[in-house]
Amino acid sequence: MQPVLDYLKQNQPRFLSELCEFLRFPSVSAQSQHAGDLRACADWLMRHCQQIGLTSEICPTDGHPIVLARTPARAGNGDGKRRPHFLVYGHYDVQPPEPLDLWKSPPFEPRIEDRSLFARGSTDNKGQIFAHLKAAEAYLKTGTPLPCDLTFLIEGEEEVGGKNLEEFLKAQRTELHCDAVVVSDTGMPDKKHPALTYGLRGIIAFEIVLHGPARDLHSGIFGGAIENPAMALARLLARMHDKNGRVAVPHFYDDVLPLSAYERKQFKRLPLKDKELQKLLGVKKLFGEKSYTATEQRSARPTFEINGITSGYQGEGSKTIVPAWARAKITCRLVPNQKPAKIRKYVTDYIKKICPPTVRLELEAGHGAEAYYVSPTGAHAQAALRALRGAFGCEPVLLREGGSIPIVNEFKKTLGSDTLLLGLGLPEDNAHSPNEKYDLDNFENGQRMSALLWQELTRA
Ligand code: BES
Ligand code: MN
Repeated sequence: MQPVLDYLKQNQPRFLSELCEFLRFPSVSAQSQHAGDLRACADWLMRHCQQIGLTSEICPTDGHPIVLARTPARAGNGDGKRRPHFLVYGHYDVQPPEPLDLWKSPPFEPRIEDRSLFARGSTDNKGQIFAHLKAAEAYLKTGTPLPCDLTFLIEGEEEVGGKNLEEFLKAQRTELHCDAVVVSDTGMPDKKHPALTYGLRGIIAFEIVLHGPARDLHSGIFGGAIENPAMALARLLARMHDKNGRVAVPHFYDDVLPLSAYERKQFKRLPLKDKELQKLLGVKKLFGEKSYTATEQRSARPTFEINGITSGYQGEGSKTIVPAWARAKITCRLVPNQKPAKIRKYVTDYIKKICPPTVRLELEAGHGAEAYYVSPTGAHAQAALRALRGAFGCEPVLLREGGSIPIVNEFKKTLGSDTLLLGLGLPEDNAHSPNEKYDLDNFENGQRMSALLWQELTRA
């Protein structure tokens, strides 16, 4: 084991420059003009996996390709028992970098400042999956036997809720059968608190379009006599919450399980208190569902969010029109026991009911996924906590987080495996925001965590 840790220590500068290469691909899955960049990125990753001693292949899908890589298979650990097999999941696609003018340096030209590496995808998720690859490299290049078999599954459609990986899992269920899945695509509250995440929120995505006049109209000639679709949309959206910050959709909370007193007590012990959060996010005041703490609101309570809103003229100067249409991109975050299809229906019914008769309503359904929740008391979870403790040199915390990783439910359904969520991101890493960064101490500790994890998990 020591040679593995020494190898990691000695090779940090090279690892960093390789990660920068990985980050230079603008692998933005949401934007079709980047399809070629995703292919090139997958290609680079596949070749990189081969260089570090894994067998690797590109698996084409109807969308962006999947990169699959394996440690050279071994027969057993000499104890007559089947060798454990773990699946490490990550994604090489990234969120759109816009708005570009807010970046201090271009999003796909990685920049290092102190112990931070700035680039789109640095924390979400290229830097995190790369930590696991480097740990595997350390085993392979030092000739240290791994106590288990590893398969890396790195996809290109996570940020768009793509369905192709689900199909792939079903088709490869025998090959991918494993004892547990390991994912580093979540966060930790601060550098002194590495975390095991035992819950994620689910999601439904959709768009609301309100159609008004057949074309944009002169607001002086016609304004006042017709509905303005942007105003209608604003009024409609304003009715999605009540005065207590609760989602006003009837039945929205029907299936939400109450938080246990024990869990609420544990949440209170986590770092990043409300005041610090307010400061970190630059808001005048926090806002959310009454009677819940910010930690609860953003990890264990469901939401209705506008992700984008568009209508009318957005260019320079003024333009006096009544816009022909208005559109909003919406996602709701869901908690355990809420069913995406059911919530979609409740929301759709409510919007149809409150939409004024002056506009034509169009609802476009997007992706959806259930929440994830797994008890952190099992042997694998305990092993993961030991690896975190060993690598970071401080006591790990147990968390629920508000983000979504839809595929973890499919790992359970299709492969029968639980997922260990061992995130290396920080709240200040700006995931999905301008100036995304990755903490290089977390990169290094993450590599050590991965190296220790395979020993701990195999022992468990
Ligand atoms: N890495 C995130 C998910 C995440 C972040 C979980 C922080 C917990 C804490 C992931 O890449 C992501 O952003 N997923 C999307 C999924 C969606 C597009 C289906 C999300 O949560 O918005
Ligand atoms: Mn991610």
